[in-house]
Amino acid sequence: MDKIYIFDTTLRDGEQSPGASMSVEQKIEVAKILARSGVDIIEAGFPISSPKQFEGVNRIAEKVRGPVIAGLARALEKDILSCFEAIKPAKNRRIHTFIATSDIHMTHKLKKSKDEVLKLAVDAVALAKSLVPDVEFSAEDATRSDWGFLKEIYTAVIEAGATTINVPDTVGYTTPGEFRELICFLKENVKNIDAAIISVHCHNDLGLATANTLEAFRAGARQAEVAINGLGERAGNASYEEVVMSLSTRKDNYKFETNIKSEYIYQLSKTLINFTGIHVQPNKAIVGENAFAHEAGIHQDGMIKHHTTYEIMRPESIGRQRSTLVLGRHSGKHGLAARLKDLGYTLEKKDFDKIYERFLEVADKKREVFDEDLYALVEEELSILPEIFSLEYFSVVTGNNVIPTATVKLKKNGEYFEEAATGDGPVDAVYKAIERITNTPTKLINYSINAVTHGKNAMGGVTISVSRDDKIYRGYSVATDVIEASAHALLNAINKILYNQEK
Ligand code: KIV
Ligand code: ZN
Repeated sequence: MDKIYIFDTTLRDGEQSPGASMSVEQKIEVAKILARSGVDIIEAGFPISSPKQFEGVNRIAEKVRGPVIAGLARALEKDILSCFEAIKPAKNRRIHTFIATSDIHMTHKLKKSKDEVLKLAVDAVALAKSLVPDVEFSAEDATRSDWGFLKEIYTAVIEAGATTINVPDTVGYTTPGEFRELICFLKENVKNIDAAIISVHCHNDLGLATANTLEAFRAGARQAEVAINGLGERAGNASYEEVVMSLSTRKDNYKFETNIKSEYIYQLSKTLINFTGIHVQPNKAIVGENAFAHEAGIHQDGMIKHHTTYEIMRPESIGRQRSTLVLGRHSGKHGLAARLKDLGYTLEKKDFDKIYERFLEVADKKREVFDEDLYALVEEELSILPEIFSLEYFSVVTGNNVIPTATVKLKKNGEYFEEAATGDGPVDAVYKAIERITNTPTKLINYSINAVTHGKNAMGGVTISVSRDDKIYRGYSVATDVIEASAHALLNAINKILYNQEK
């Protein structure tokens, strides 16, 4: 059976989508799980785009072993050199360079002729090739490009040393039949095509990303660029879990192998949700809350008789069984460490100690600490929080006949500050008190609350976006008390604002 290479772009295309940014530590954690899950290539970021991006790629290249570590670079010398520096520590590394090839992009965005674009592409690939043996070239907006020009540019970049040529459906415009024809055309007309792997990178603007990716395999593509939970620009990228599970569930039909251990899918999905605050719809294929739930009587009856009646995959195949190990206040460090290891986390001692402290606090408030609680705690502790102000104490008086009033005490550099405020509701009152103490008024743009665990004593995850000085800051926190989670989320955002100001 032919092998399909899985190229994960969650940390690049996924992370560059609105609201999805992660701390460097969080990216490293995602990359480690991706490596364990068997992905072939991790696109770790776009090094030239910011110092944080550079650091993310560089630290992943240093710490994560197994997959090829790729970085993105425009077809420009400075991008390629920066990308090379960032991926240097990796054992296996790839430079992924790109330039747009459609008339729309060349005319309006690049303002360059075909000849100029061709030259930039060839020069970029040749430079990348002089630095690393593994070079990928993408013709951005390929599906709206002239096929003759695609043939010319792919032939030229393979000659210059590209080992993978990527065909992006950048704006999610193509359809399965049309995309298959394009890949067939390239396979038949690019004379040196056998010297490179054909890759596809499909966006989901019409909801066709997975279908387009799968159809491209039939025509000869052998690398899929995907993202966990389908994260990515606009409507996202082809989803990792959908592509992988389609290939494994319908192996009879597709007849391809991958290296992926699908049991990590649920952990990857949950980790990403916790790290970014971006949830998936309940009926999302594979990883949605209802993807393995059976409500209708006839379905339940069928399931009791035999699971194959209504399930084409087992939840266990994506790592979705519930934990039988109950963690609580009596579980020691070993119990917690073992459970975190089972969940796939390999934490450094200082991170583990912080999580253990928080675990004890949660275990004191709840009888049982579930896996979801642990995912949430790991997210909280790994998002490098410049903790300028921390919450010491709060109390609220509220009801349907009183003006909600909050008293809040915060700590900064060993000093305590206290304020009281009234508001439209208890969260509003707490927020006003915090803003007074920190002297940092913000505009609340978005506030969402989700039960991140099950049952009445579930933990509430609060995600907020606030704006200040034309910049948006995100705050996230989890706690059994939603007002406490809300307070921590605002402090999280305010600490980022103050940290930025200090810098
Ligand atoms: O969508 C796209 O075209 C991209 C390229 C950089 C591969 O993300
Ligand atoms: Zn993309």
